[in-house]
Amino acid sequence: MKGTILVLGATSPIARATAAYLASQGHPLYLASRDDEELKRIGADLSAKYGITVHTGHFDAEDSATHPAFFRQAVAQTGGLDGAIIAFGYLGQQSKAIHDFAEGQAILNCNFVGACSALAECANYFEAKKKGFIVGISSVAGDRGRQSNYYYGAAKGGLTTFLEGLRNRLYPAGVHVMTVKPGFVDTGMTFGKPGLFLVASPEAVGEAIGKAIAKGKSTLYVPWFWRYIMWIIKAIPETIFKRLKL
Ligand SMILES: NC(=O)c1ccc[n+]([C@@H]2O[C@H](COP(=O)([O-])OP(=O)(O)OC[C@H]3O[C@@H](n4cnc5c(N)ncnc54)[C@H](OP(=O)(O)O)[C@@H]3O)[C@@H](O)[C@H]2O)c1
Repeated sequence: MKGTILVLGATSPIARATAAYLASQGHPLYLASRDDEELKRIGADLSAKYGITVHTGHFDAEDSATHPAFFRQAVAQTGGLDGAIIAFGYLGQQSKAIHDFAEGQAILNCNFVGACSALAECANYFEAKKKGFIVGISSVAGDRGRQSNYYYGAAKGGLTTFLEGLRNRLYPAGVHVMTVKPGFVDTGMTFGKPGLFLVASPEAVGEAIGKAIAKGKSTLYVPWFWRYIMWIIKAIPETIFKRLKL
């Protein structure tokens, strides 16, 4: 029998599509975020469509003190987890953060500090179990700092490094850690934002994540061509890059 997958930030379209793909493969799910009613709706829908068991729970990424108890309760309620997907995120407003550090701090707290706190719980649990997988949804924005989103980019860059360290630590325990770096995806996060190109659907991204888990990939750029776009962006010399309006 397939084991339960924990999805944090499960109301996000990318998480929801990934959960739907995993449900279609027969995995029971534990869905968590702050919107309890929406979680129940998503859970009922997936349960009806795929005939799987879905648990839901309240999780706030920014309230790290509650994470150990949340994790213990999720494990107890499901009887054990096979994997975890850390999908929550907050783009925030860079223009506001420049003059109001509280906004910058909110971006860093959700995307980096909260993610590290959740990952720490997952890492210790799966390491002791000597199996399982952890997926962290980072971003191509973390690959190079740009004036238009360096708070979010720094948080995601930090998350990418944290996941890299966890992958290195957990490899001997047989725990697979995957970093996902989406490009632009059609969700509430990007809605109405100018200058977007090659925008992917959450469904395509969710399916790619599900398939990459099964293949045991370490880093997934999604869609795939972002690996090459970011390779070019990272190769631009800093003397040129600092002059660009990005
Ligand atoms: N969309 C893109 O173009 C894009 C590109 C690269 C990376 N990403 C990353 O992909 C992931 C999913 O993004 P998305 O675009 O699908 O999501 P989204 O529409 O922006 O939704 C973000 C989700 O994060 C959850 N969340 C925010 N703050 C939270 C908190 N403090 N505690 C718990 N949950 C919280 C929200 O759930 P509740 O409100 O229910 O708590 C919400 O469902 C994020 O990590 C994002 O950074 C997205």
